Amino acid sequence: MEVISKISQLRERLSQLRNEGKSIGLVPTMGALHEGHASLVRRSVKENDVTVVSVFLNPTQFNDPKDLERYPRTLEADCRLLDECGADIAFAPSVKEIYPEPDTRLFSYPPTDSVMEGAMRPGHFNGVCQIVSKLLSYVEPDRAYFGEKDYQQIAVIRRMVDDLGFKLQIVPCPVVRQSDGLALSSRNTLLSDEERVTAANIYRILDKSRSLGLTVQETHDYVVGEINSIPGLTVQYFSIVDGDSLADVTSWDEAPSVVGCITVFCGTKPIRLIDHIRYK
Ligand code: PAJ
Repeated sequence: MEVISKISQLRERLSQLRNEGKSIGLVPTMGALHEGHASLVRRSVKENDVTVVSVFLNPTQFNDPKDLERYPRTLEADCRLLDECGADIAFAPSVKEIYPEPDTRLFSYPPTDSVMEGAMRPGHFNGVCQIVSKLLSYVEPDRAYFGEKDYQQIAVIRRMVDDLGFKLQIVPCPVVRQSDGLALSSRNTLLSDEERVTAANIYRILDKSRSLGLTVQETHDYVVGEINSIPGLTVQYFSIVDGDSLADVTSWDEAPSVVGCITVFCGTKPIRLIDHIRYK
């Protein structure tokens, strides 16, 4: 696997490969890679001739400086995992390389970027759009892979790709979970062993809420009540929304696809964990 840190070098290498008729898959990441990321990389390796994985801890999407500061940084281990997964190029630039000047572009795709994470983390999706639009223009991939773990992020990126006219396929990939149901996340390494066990209740309760035959409002209240009753867990929001537009729904038959998106504070630091469940 090649490790490239300069945009010019990346473009040059990819134009060679494109001229040879090779298809290109892109997997954007912020590093601290785990099996969730690996599943995206393996899928891209299967579906494309060349797989580029970006490893860039994007400062513009962090609205909380403390969150950025304590985000795990593990580039060496990341490169080993990417190599094992069959990635061809790891693109690991510096912040100066990506943002030689501050990025002043503003993106706005309501309601996808204004509800839930957008409301709780002002500027977060603007930063995501800044970095993903840059990566798409450097790499010009045929396909880009995103995890449904960040369900809302995919909806925002779809809108941006349509808006800016990028010609590529967005490939959503299922959430990879621990055997107890906890969604794998780079932030899980910040949890104590005990907190991790507690955090597994989030998906257990979400999953159970599917089988109770409740209304949308009752489902909302059940999930929030059950999770908040567990010491160490506090729900920030739980929204049951149209799976495409992310607008709130009040009944199950209001949209062809309905998902519940949740953010929970776990433990004493506390660590913010996100997850979602598909109802239909
Ligand atoms: P990051 O959190 O590193 O995640 C990179 C990709 O891996 C995202 O598409 C995310 O949804 C996916 N992913 C993470 N955990 C997963 C899991 N357990 N199962 C399946 N997929 C999982 O998301 C970002 O980085 C950034 O916002 C980024 C898009 C790279 C822009 O900076």
